[in-house]
Amino acid sequence: MRKIWNVLTATTMVAAACGFAGAAAAADNKEVQMLHWWTSGGEAAALNVIKEALAKQGYTWKDVPVAGGGGEAAMTTLKAMVAAGNPPTASQILGYFALDYADAGKLGDVTPLAVKGDWAKVIPTALQKFTTTNGKWDAVPINIHSVNWIWLNKAVMDKIGGTEPKNFDEFLALLDKAKAAGVIPLALGGQPWQEATMFDSVVMSTGGPEFYKKAFIDLDESALKSDTMKKSFDNLAKLRGYVDPNFAGRDWNLATAMVVKGDALAQVMGDWAKGEFKVANKEPGKDYLCYRFPGTDGTVIYNTDMFAFFNVSADRKDAQNALAAASMDPAVQSAFNVIKGSVPARIDVSDAAFDMCGKKGIADVKAANAKGTFLGSMAQNYAQPPAIGSGAYHDVVTKFFHGQIKTSDQAVAELDKAINAAM
Ligand code: GAL
Repeated sequence: MRKIWNVLTATTMVAAACGFAGAAAAADNKEVQMLHWWTSGGEAAALNVIKEALAKQGYTWKDVPVAGGGGEAAMTTLKAMVAAGNPPTASQILGYFALDYADAGKLGDVTPLAVKGDWAKVIPTALQKFTTTNGKWDAVPINIHSVNWIWLNKAVMDKIGGTEPKNFDEFLALLDKAKAAGVIPLALGGQPWQEATMFDSVVMSTGGPEFYKKAFIDLDESALKSDTMKKSFDNLAKLRGYVDPNFAGRDWNLATAMVVKGDALAQVMGDWAKGEFKVANKEPGKDYLCYRFPGTDGTVIYNTDMFAFFNVSADRKDAQNALAAASMDPAVQSAFNVIKGSVPARIDVSDAAFDMCGKKGIADVKAANAKGTFLGSMAQNYAQPPAIGSGAYHDVVTKFFHGQIKTSDQAVAELDKAINAAM
């Protein structure tokens, strides 16, 4: 069993056992109890698509929302529920978190549906590493998000005469223009996961896909300690100069709102940000612009939202299967992802219903998948297990961003040390 279980204190387990006992007792075979962190406007709107699909089949929805972008708080709640023997029907989950639960024998089995629906043919192989264990399907991917995007307010771009930045230096020049015009150049929520998510893009832009893969997926020590990694930290420090003084602790969707309103020029964020533009009735090309993070065109740093299915009592399995089937329904994947900002995990879903950013997202995933530049996000736990991704990596990046680690030399040394300690 990996570290995920070790950090759970007895107190948390007891509290969870008491807190969720009622929910489990009340569950009947028509109830879907779902844990997730989709609490922003765009996220909640997307989740409604799934709730409605199940309601049509007569299932009731028992929501277990745990606010906190990136899902760290949700993962703590999930850990407590599972440890207390009260797992939800399913939980939103990212990457290696799912593999940890699978290793611990906590996940159920929806393989018969997968076989019937030929899921292996329509889900990218890279994702199947996380949705299956020894050939058994224990999770389903509802989408593919990618983190290497920037989102810009179109009116502000017009006002400053900005054009699409094609590399990192052009991005800095664009941010300078906004600064000169008295607009906040970069909207950022100063939380570890957000800074780390931005750093994924900076590393890709600075070193390219081969370097990203070597450093984050292969954990090649020479790459982790290289001048390119130092330069990545230096580039991150440059971006630090463009955020407003109130960035610390801000939620990601509030940072998106700054761009939606034109209080800031741009946000570096995964395409869940698009869900916030959509729910505010903003249109791409007219109100806002979506570009790949400058210097990362041709690559997709992915994370996929999976629903992990836990071992539940026999009377809850029917609801579990219903959720799995609905989530893999091509029509549901289309409707959900149009609202969420992500693209369908099923590669056979048409892009017809998607806006220009969504169409680009779908085409980018196909192209990157074909040429080996479809790579898991370190910040989102798709490159390494949580002890390294949301542990060591988030910690060092945030300390550097907030000035506790002062130089890129020191940052590289600390990152290498922290990763080795977590392994
Ligand atoms: C990501 C997740 C997205 C979105 C985002 C902000 O980890 O994959 O679906 O919810 O966090 O909350």
